[in-house]
Amino acid sequence: MATQEETFKKLVSHCKEYGFVFPSSEIYDGLGAVYDYGQNGVELKNNIKRYWWDSMTLLHENIVGIDAAIFMHPTVWKASGHVDAFNDPLIDNRDSKKRYRADVLIEDQLGKIEEKINKEVEKAAKRFGESFDEAMFRQTNARVLEHQAHWDALHERYSKAMNASDLAELKQIILDEEIVCPISGTRNWTDVRQFNLMFQTEMGSTADGAMKIYLRPETAQGIFVNYLNVQKTGRMKIPFGIAQIGKAFRNEIVARQFVFRMREFEQMEMQFFVKPGTEMEWFKHWKEFRLKWHKALGLGDEKYRFHDHEKLAHYANAATDIEFLMPFGFKEVEGIHSRTNFDLSQHAKYSGKKIEYFDPELNESYTPYVIETSIGVDRMFLSIMCSSYKEETLEGGETRVVLSLPPVLAPVKACVMPLVKKDGLPEKAREVMDMLKFDFKTTYDEKDSIGKRYRRQDAIGTPFCITIDHDTLNDNCVTVRYRDTMAQDRVKIEDLHAMIQKAVDMKQVLRKLV
Ligand code: GAP
Repeated sequence: MATQEETFKKLVSHCKEYGFVFPSSEIYDGLGAVYDYGQNGVELKNNIKRYWWDSMTLLHENIVGIDAAIFMHPTVWKASGHVDAFNDPLIDNRDSKKRYRADVLIEDQLGKIEEKINKEVEKAAKRFGESFDEAMFRQTNARVLEHQAHWDALHERYSKAMNASDLAELKQIILDEEIVCPISGTRNWTDVRQFNLMFQTEMGSTADGAMKIYLRPETAQGIFVNYLNVQKTGRMKIPFGIAQIGKAFRNEIVARQFVFRMREFEQMEMQFFVKPGTEMEWFKHWKEFRLKWHKALGLGDEKYRFHDHEKLAHYANAATDIEFLMPFGFKEVEGIHSRTNFDLSQHAKYSGKKIEYFDPELNESYTPYVIETSIGVDRMFLSIMCSSYKEETLEGGETRVVLSLPPVLAPVKACVMPLVKKDGLPEKAREVMDMLKFDFKTTYDEKDSIGKRYRRQDAIGTPFCITIDHDTLNDNCVTVRYRDTMAQDRVKIEDLHAMIQKAVDMKQVLRKLV
């Protein structure tokens, strides 16, 4: 059995080999934590975005979309708090000249202690066999208890230091724990410093007149600064929402796990403006709706969980993450935040403009409160790929790699294949393709044996393979082979469209949400 780590490595190579994700500028050896989506990746990503966009803007008459520019006035980021507080604590090793996130070094140390505990448990489980009582062992074994006490003390000290932004204490923890640089193996550390995650550039041609601007680290601010524009021009009544999909940029120092943490990524964010005092009801509503949205794809309900934030950002009065079980553990895919009226009030303060809502029912004006749902397209993409990638051993010992993607998201819906490259079969196959291509992403393949062609489609998750053979010319029927069961059916050409439509129709998933 391959370990989760090995499977994840295979998935990363699979993504490259089958045109889902390539390292950016690969011919120049790539660029750290930046990736390009290939011909299949972009189709899958577009389908994810379509699912999200339709679930927001079609199913909710009080949610509209916008597409704000990536460049924004620099004061936006002062008002939002990103200039002063969007930081990671960094530490350098003087010998290797490598830079690390101090919090990640300490979290890795916590992970190592957990590993030690797990190893003790595994060893004991092997020794005692069937009669092993894991809970009892964890509560009584001296070595496990010692490691656990170490973990608890370190975790408490670390949380305190992070909450207080105590950089000197973070360094002291690294020294006390004798954490070494993985490259040089030494403990020759600098002090811990705060490092702002926003990318900067300059707008304007002359050095004197140029204005320092930032690449947006979240799309949300584009919504906040357009709140009045949309509310007025769309005559929106509270409660209402504004949805947006777009790129965001963060100079992540520790960029890991493939597309999970990137420097350029894409967000799908929705800010829902509500009457002050009703925000907790709406927070609950959006938590439920968003989880339903994830589960409706059928990747497995047990793979999701909420992680409520204990420590809240100064502007939030509730926050939770939707986590997905990746091969490297439960990880955040989406955040749902009750952001109070912080952002709108800050923009009112910094711009000097009145940003309020006149409530005709109350006959008074107020600054709306905001519930935000914020999901990373790339993390969603990764969660789908991780749960769909399967290596199967078939009868007879042959193996196949199959992506059991939800058909509604699959990059290619059907592949049309003439059994042989002659006797009028390619022409008939083209006819079938021409009939389907206006509604479904369809490909054509006439190379190699049918078995090889099936494998190629399995590997990119195509739900239907349609084979045209000599009988087709007489009976107008084709062989349809299904990706997941590998079963085959004889289907009339005139019924193909309806059959595919039924399986890949976005409506059937959207209907589960209302
Ligand atoms: N406006 C709120 C906001 O940006 P966040 O928790 O920082 O909140 C929201 O980000 C989502 O964006 C995350 O749940 C994650 O899916 C995605 N995300 C954040 N940083 C990312 C990165 N470096 N690479 C890929 N996705 C990222």
